[in-house]
Amino acid sequence: MEGLRVTDIGVIGGAGYVGLVTGVGLAALGHRVIAEDIDQRRLEMLRAGKSAVYEDGLEAILGELIEMDQISFTDDLSETVRGSEVLFIAVGTPSLADGAADLSAVISVAEQLRDEIDRYTVIVVKSTVPVGTIEVVNDVLSQKLREREDFDVVSNPEFLREGSGLIDFFSPSRVIVGSRSERALAVLREIYEPLLSGRVVVDVPWIDSSREIPYVETDSTSAQLTKYAANAYLATRISFINEIAGISEKVGGNIGDIVYGLGLDPRIGPGYLNPGIGFGGPCLDKDLRALITVAGENSYDPVMFNGVVRRNELQLQEVMNKITGALGSSLYQRRIALLGLAFKEGTNDVRYSLSVRLYRALRDQGASVVGHDLLAVQEAKELEPELEASVDVTEVLAGAEVVVVLNSEPSYADIDWSAAGAGGHPPHVIDTRGILAAGALEAAGITFDVLGSR
Ligand SMILES: NC(=O)c1ccc[n+]([C@@H]2O[C@H](COP(=O)([O-])OP(=O)(O)OC[C@H]3O[C@@H](n4cnc5c(N)ncnc54)[C@H](O)[C@@H]3O)[C@@H](O)[C@H]2O)c1
Repeated sequence: MEGLRVTDIGVIGGAGYVGLVTGVGLAALGHRVIAEDIDQRRLEMLRAGKSAVYEDGLEAILGELIEMDQISFTDDLSETVRGSEVLFIAVGTPSLADGAADLSAVISVAEQLRDEIDRYTVIVVKSTVPVGTIEVVNDVLSQKLREREDFDVVSNPEFLREGSGLIDFFSPSRVIVGSRSERALAVLREIYEPLLSGRVVVDVPWIDSSREIPYVETDSTSAQLTKYAANAYLATRISFINEIAGISEKVGGNIGDIVYGLGLDPRIGPGYLNPGIGFGGPCLDKDLRALITVAGENSYDPVMFNGVVRRNELQLQEVMNKITGALGSSLYQRRIALLGLAFKEGTNDVRYSLSVRLYRALRDQGASVVGHDLLAVQEAKELEPELEASVDVTEVLAGAEVVVVLNSEPSYADIDWSAAGAGGHPPHVIDTRGILAAGALEAAGITFDVLGSR
C-alpha cells in the first residue's frame, strides 16, 4: 500500500485472545506478523485457519490473511525474534493466591528475549501488568543488552472486550502508548498510522472512518495505571448497581426502570449498569485485586476497591439464596438449569466464570445441574468434566425445577417455555440479568424472580 511503512512484528502469546486479535489486527493494517505461542493445540488450529478463541468474524479474516502471507504461526521464539523489528508481549498474567498479578510468563519471555535479541528491537507490553513491570522487563533485558541502543520497552495496554474484540481493535475508544523513549514512540506511531487513517489490506467491516481515534502518548506508569483504572471503574459500576439492586429488592423497586432512569443521566450513561451474579471473567476481578495489591505495597489503603470486591463476593450468595428460596434448603438431587456458562454472552471464555463457580456450589450441595451455552459448552466441560451441558436450550429446560439466567444472551428473551419444567410443573425462573419478557413467563404460568425487583 502506498506510503505505508510495513513493520515486521512478532506477537508472543499470539494464539491467545489478546495476542490473536492484536496479530490479526496488525496484519490487516499491512504489517507482516509472526504469532508465536507455546500452545501447540491452538497453533495447529490457527495454521488451519481455525481460531481456538471465539470472536465474531475472526476466522474469515484470519483465513484471508494467512493466504496473503500477512500472518504466520510458530512455536519458535528465536525465529520470531530474528524476523521482527517489534515484539508485542501478550502472554497471560493471571492472579496469584494473594491477588497479585503472576508475572512469571512475562519475565520468562523477557529472559528469553535478552538472550535472542541482536539488533535494536522495540518490546511492547500488551499484557495487563502492574506498575513497575516495565522496569522489571527493562532490568531483565539490561543484564545483557543496552537500553536505547539494543531495545526499548513500551507499555501499550489492551482494552478489548471479549465478544467484540475486532470492533475494539479496528475502532478502539483510544490507543494508549507509554514509554520514555522518543525513538520507540515513533515506531509505535508508524505501526498504528494505518489504523488512525483507516487503511487496511483486507476488507474489514469494523472501521468507522467518521470518527477520529484518540491516540495518547504518555509515560509507561500512567499507561499501565490507565488500564487498571478502567477495569477498576467498570468493576465498581457493577458492584454499585448490584448494591442498588439489593436495596431495590428490599424496598420494592423495579431495577429495570431504575437502571434505565439512571443511565439517561449523561454524567452516568447506561454501560455496565446491569445487575447480575457479579463480575467474573479473565480481567475485572484479577485486575482489581492486582490494583489493590499495588496500593497496599505502596502504603495506600484502597477502602473503596475492597468494598467493590466484597460486594462481588456476596453477589453469588444472593443468587444461591434465591435458589434455596424456591427449592428449600436441601438441594439434593434437585434439577437446576443454568443458562449462560461463559462469563458473558458472545464468547467461549469460561475462565473465572461465576456461572461455573455457581455450578460448583450447587454440585457440592448434591444438586443435579445442567448448563446451557451457545458457544462455551466444550470449554465448560474441559474445565468441569462432570458438568452436563448442551447447546440445545429446550433439552436443558426439560426436567428443570429452577432455571437461572446468568448472562444476557439475546436468544434467552425468545425462549419457548411451553415444554420447560418437571413432572408437568413449570420451573421457577431466576432472571439475574432482567432480560426475559415477563409477559411470556406469565403466559406459560411460570413464577419468576428478577434480581433487584420485587
Ligand atoms: N481477555 C481479555 O479480554 C483481555 C482484555 C485486555 C487485556 N487482557 C490482558 O491480556 C493478557 C493476555 O490475556 P488473554 O486473555 O489473551 O490470555 P490467553 O490465556 O487467552 O492468552 C495468553 C497466551 O499466551 C501464551 N503463552 C503463555 N506463556 C507463553 C510463553 N512463555 N511464550 C509464548 N506464549 C505464551 C498462552 O499459550 C496463551 O495462548 C493478560 O495480561 C490479560 O489481563 C485480556
